[in-house]
Amino acid sequence: MITPDLFARHRLVPVVVLDDAASAEPLADALAAGGLPIAEVTFRTDAAAEAIARMAAHGGVTVGAGTVTTPAQVDAAVEAGARFVVSPGFSAAVVRRCREHGVFALPGATTATEIMTALAEDVTVVKFFPAGTSGGAPAVAALSAPFAQVSFVPTGGIDAESAAGYLALPSVLAVGGSWMVPRKAIAAGEFGRVTDLVAAAVAAAAR
Ligand code: 3PG
Repeated sequence: MITPDLFARHRLVPVVVLDDAASAEPLADALAAGGLPIAEVTFRTDAAAEAIARMAAHGGVTVGAGTVTTPAQVDAAVEAGARFVVSPGFSAAVVRRCREHGVFALPGATTATEIMTALAEDVTVVKFFPAGTSGGAPAVAALSAPFAQVSFVPTGGIDAESAAGYLALPSVLAVGGSWMVPRKAIAAGEFGRVTDLVAAAVAAAAR
């Protein structure tokens, strides 16, 4: 099973919406070329499961599933080859199904109550979503005071400029976002542009 180290190592999680599963392999190559061999493929399009399967078979990136809200989607994601499962919110049923499959779960939590619900399920790494409208980096910092054992992956409304403010917090393992993998660029086959955006994000995160 992957561990939180994966996120801590990369510091960035590209959140991908794929309209066509045929984009999976060139996208995997573009991410790897940009120095970020990880992808969260969201279950927002019909192409998601096949795209995950194609990326997993292609190799070169660690692929996970995003926007997973039900245990049935966990099953589909794992069957396709997802190595981690991200949810926008907290569902104990989703977390438990991930554990049954031996797959890392990254559920969403943005309030003290949601974090306590996560802790009750022994979850100590949460996606802070939607980060931008949930108080941003100051909110993550404030929540880290009572919940020192919790690590965060803020996602939602983050861009190249705002990422640094989150990454400066010791409790932030990584930030997620779609800014370096624009849906339109992928759909248009502009994979060189994706590589450039990814490389710029990686360079900024290393600063
Ligand atoms: C997600 O599912 O994590 C978000 O849609 C990503 O948010 P962003 O598109 O604002 O980066």
